Amino acid sequence: MESLVSSWTKELDGRAATATLRQQQGTRNKVDFCSNDYLGLARNDAFQARLLAVAQQEPAALTGASGSRIIRGHADAVAEVEQHIAYTHGNASALLVGSGYLANLALFSCLLKRGDSILLDEKIHRSVHDGCKLSMATKWKFRHNDLTHLESCLRKAKGRVLVAVESLYSMDGDFAPLEDIITLANRYGAAVIVDEAHAAGVFGCGVVHQKGLQEQVLATVVTYGKAFGLAGAAILGSKLLTDYLLNFSAPLIYTTGLPIYHATAIRTAYGFLADNPSLALSLQNLLARFAQQGMKTTSAAVSPIQSVRFSDSTCLLAATAVMQQNGLDVYPIFPPTVAVGAERLRICMHTFNTPSEIDLLGKYIRAWQQ
Ligand SMILES: Cc1ncc(COP(=O)(O)O)c(C=O)c1O
Repeated sequence: MESLVSSWTKELDGRAATATLRQQQGTRNKVDFCSNDYLGLARNDAFQARLLAVAQQEPAALTGASGSRIIRGHADAVAEVEQHIAYTHGNASALLVGSGYLANLALFSCLLKRGDSILLDEKIHRSVHDGCKLSMATKWKFRHNDLTHLESCLRKAKGRVLVAVESLYSMDGDFAPLEDIITLANRYGAAVIVDEAHAAGVFGCGVVHQKGLQEQVLATVVTYGKAFGLAGAAILGSKLLTDYLLNFSAPLIYTTGLPIYHATAIRTAYGFLADNPSLALSLQNLLARFAQQGMKTTSAAVSPIQSVRFSDSTCLLAATAVMQQNGLDVYPIFPPTVAVGAERLRICMHTFNTPSEIDLLGKYIRAWQQ
């Protein structure tokens, strides 16, 4: 026991020594440039009022599902929301789960078997890697958005093959070339899964929906903890896919189903976003203002995630400290979340950020990027 505790202490001390110790922060009053609340729904009074009205209509929906979704834990009301989500996204079927992390565990843990291959973009989210750890299939990584490298992996891959990408990457704020990846994967008989955690809501129902690619991908994951201002996720795909998951995906089967209120809150968020298309537009206007600041970023101009690099980690930490002292809540990203040498500020833009806050952010970043 003592050796275990002392090894943990050593690891934590190691992080503290490099100023990379992760700590929970609690509520902060600074200007939010780091949360995933891109459209401001998590702090929107009108949205909160709608959620409250829904809760008041049916207080019994607030309590738990009382069982796995296979055993009494799947109410008709949740099934109706799933049907609505599938219809809205143009998919045959949808399954709601408690989080995006769980959605990726559910998918990647069970779809392939020993002797099969999963090809992951090297920048894909940790939850996909963790899902793969629960699978006996062989995992390969291909260089970020690199079709040539993907093709060489496809040539070598054995058995049935899955390719996993994000439509909008969570740390870099750049898009996957989805059509090209799908065409290439199809040529080698591989199926594609797309994680839309950061695109859904900001770009309508997500990039797969916008581009009409639903029939060409095996599954899409959308999450509700980011632009939807809530929590949870949906796995979208064919009826066969969701039937398979309900039968063989342990992270879906051996856990309590969602409370009805969780599903109806998600349904409410879809309605709220449909009624307020100006939110996504105003985010784009603020991003245009951000682009005018003249900072160096490799992220797509329309992405709410803007990745800003500095000359080294010392400069990144110093810049972060100055911005924090001046009321801007920015968050530096270090390994293992990103690769060694790829430390950065992950700036998140929101509908509630003001032009003057963006100008202030730009002033500090420009000063420290030089
Ligand atoms: C690309 C991606 N997928 C999945 C997740 C997990 O989603 P959730 O926060 O709903 O668990 C995240 C979370 O940041 C993410 O960035």
